[in-house]
Amino acid sequence: MRARSAQAVGVFPQLPAGVATLMISATTVAVSFGAGLPAAAWPEPAQLPTRSAPPDPLVSFGGQPIRTQREWEKQRRPELKSLFQHYMYGALPPKPARMDVEVTGEYPDFLGGKATLKTMTLRFGDPASPKLDLMLVTPNHAPGRVPVFLALNFCGNHAVHPDPRIPLTRGWIYANCAGCQDGHAGETGRGSQAVDWPLGAIINRGYAFATVCTADIDSDRPDVSDGVYRWLAGRTGGANPSADRGTLAAWAWGFHRCVDQLVTERRLDPKRIAVVGHSRNGKTALLAGAMDERIALAIPHQAGCGGTAPSRGRIGESVQRINTAFPHWFNGAYKAFNEDPTRLPFDQNCLVALMAPRPVLFGNAVEDTWANPAGQFEMLRGAEPVYRLLKAGGCEVTRQPPVGELVKSRLGYFIRPGKHSMTVGDWNLFMDFADVQLKKSK
Ligand code: GCU
Repeated sequence: MRARSAQAVGVFPQLPAGVATLMISATTVAVSFGAGLPAAAWPEPAQLPTRSAPPDPLVSFGGQPIRTQREWEKQRRPELKSLFQHYMYGALPPKPARMDVEVTGEYPDFLGGKATLKTMTLRFGDPASPKLDLMLVTPNHAPGRVPVFLALNFCGNHAVHPDPRIPLTRGWIYANCAGCQDGHAGETGRGSQAVDWPLGAIINRGYAFATVCTADIDSDRPDVSDGVYRWLAGRTGGANPSADRGTLAAWAWGFHRCVDQLVTERRLDPKRIAVVGHSRNGKTALLAGAMDERIALAIPHQAGCGGTAPSRGRIGESVQRINTAFPHWFNGAYKAFNEDPTRLPFDQNCLVALMAPRPVLFGNAVEDTWANPAGQFEMLRGAEPVYRLLKAGGCEVTRQPPVGELVKSRLGYFIRPGKHSMTVGDWNLFMDFADVQLKKSK
């Protein structure tokens, strides 16, 4: 998979001459400012070379080998962040200048007195800004500052646990969420997904739990933008074209705003924040972790195409299929790779590599072939060169592990029997992994 020495000769051996010249000046900008390249500097997708193998995270866009931690951090890491946003996810909205936190309730008698429930609303300076309802559950008896799982949910915080003190989600929610009426949450949805969110077990094992609903950040509809992008466009009086936005990027922004708050919580260890998401929310968890180093662990569960599975994969969902069924998840540029994803200047191994040296766990299910479990394992392994460069270990197995076995190395993986779902059994594995990878790094 790696072809570093072959690509080390010449300045930009893979690229047409005009593109190479353009990139020289762009790379200079990136190195001198240590930031992502200006979007306009990247070539049109049709100008990109085809590559059947996933691009090496330790070879720059221009073909230079990345040999040191410094080159990774100052050059390649910002370059990959820029490439992913330019060609796939769209730009993550910026951190707002202001965040107001309203604590709407704090209840130390939650879970029979084992935990404290805190409900809060995050706002961003003006009434039109998104309102993120963040629910935080902390163990009452665990000593010291505890690690926290921050998860994105589909149907509202109120669906995660039946306690009536949890506010109903106010934004648009999926029609198949229990209690949904005309796109909005209803009382009968309370606790409807509690079976998948084992809060008692999480607390018993000394972890805190926080969650926010995707609907608060941006609704999951191709034809409607009612969240962060609409708010930002309204502030500047600008347009809000669908080609310039991506719902996964919006949700990742929402994760980051929750992290802004969690790092201030006195019961939490700000250095042990794990992000969790299932499926589309798992794609988001990995993106959020890749783009924000405050996140200590990413658990993209059954994330599949556009997250943990290869874009060049031949099993399960393809780039064309996901862009057709869910065009709003990605930006306009990504559609240009429908016919030929081998032109992408990265694959999802490079997104995992952006997590380095931090741990990542991929969870899979045997029947979930749509998410390409074997291809995901290849993406995990394809991130390993960066972990090795940073002396952070890697993946302790070279073949996809047998069903039911948890690989607990820095790059972790499991595949269990069953379908596309997030179960209590999965949560137990998330915690087994975090016990090793988060508690150890304390
Ligand atoms: C669809 C989609 C997947 C996605 C999944 C989900 O199946 O094709 O990419 O992961 O929905 O979010 O449940």
